[in-house]
Amino acid sequence: RQRQPIMAGNWKMNPATEADALNLANGFCALLNQLEDTCAVDVKEGCTEVVLFPPFPFISKVKDIVSKDGISVGAQQVYYENKGAFTGSVAASMVKSVGCEYVLCGHSERRSLFSDSDANINQKVRKVLEYGMRPILCVGETQDDYDLGITQEVCAMQVTKDLRGVSKEDMSNVVIAYEPVWAIGTGLVCDAKAANDVHKFIRTILAKMYDDEVAQSTRIQYGGSVTPESVDGLMAMSDIDGCLVGGASLFADKFARIVSFK
Ligand code: G3H
Repeated sequence: RQRQPIMAGNWKMNPATEADALNLANGFCALLNQLEDTCAVDVKEGCTEVVLFPPFPFISKVKDIVSKDGISVGAQQVYYENKGAFTGSVAASMVKSVGCEYVLCGHSERRSLFSDSDANINQKVRKVLEYGMRPILCVGETQDDYDLGITQEVCAMQVTKDLRGVSKEDMSNVVIAYEPVWAIGTGLVCDAKAANDVHKFIRTILAKMYDDEVAQSTRIQYGGSVTPESVDGLMAMSDIDGCLVGGASLFADKFARIVSFK
């Protein structure tokens, strides 16, 4: 593989308590260690990168549990201002200081439920990079966009606007996640070949914005109802470099199987 695989678990607003979150983290690590002992799972060797995105209150303790197994943690979102009177918001410096290496930017739930605009997402991407962390920029078409046949236009628009002003050098720290909104949490995983075609298309946009080197080296994840049953087919595709997993990442056994894709 030319690009290092990156598998991410986005816990969203789950689980309900700290005890449940730590149980999930411990259970996942235990299963991963068993798998690493019995087959060619290579997370510890650094061959596959694994990142967990717990809710803010659980990040530190989850990191304490998972970091010994080479697993990183990230924040599901940050605000783009540095500090100040923004009640309820969390700054990039804060999540950086508790050990986050990644931040999700532009997740469709933030776009649709919390009115994150492309301009705001762009500010967040740049802030995350400024603080030495890596944004995972989520893009993807809605069901309506899909029905209208404008998947490419939507992805091109989001990638272009959300990465505005990001330098070529900084692009080595950017991961893109293609998440068709109609596939998120619905059980309707996108056909692997169709997803791969969108990933290839996103690379053409990166080539126009930057150059071929950035287009070929940027890691692009697929997200949307990924399960142990669908992961191998997705990861067999030429341009799919990992998965951003929601629902299935809340089950230690399912997520352990997903990160140890074949
Ligand atoms: O961030 C993760 C994605 O929204 C996918 O969620 O696996 O529950 O469909 P899902």
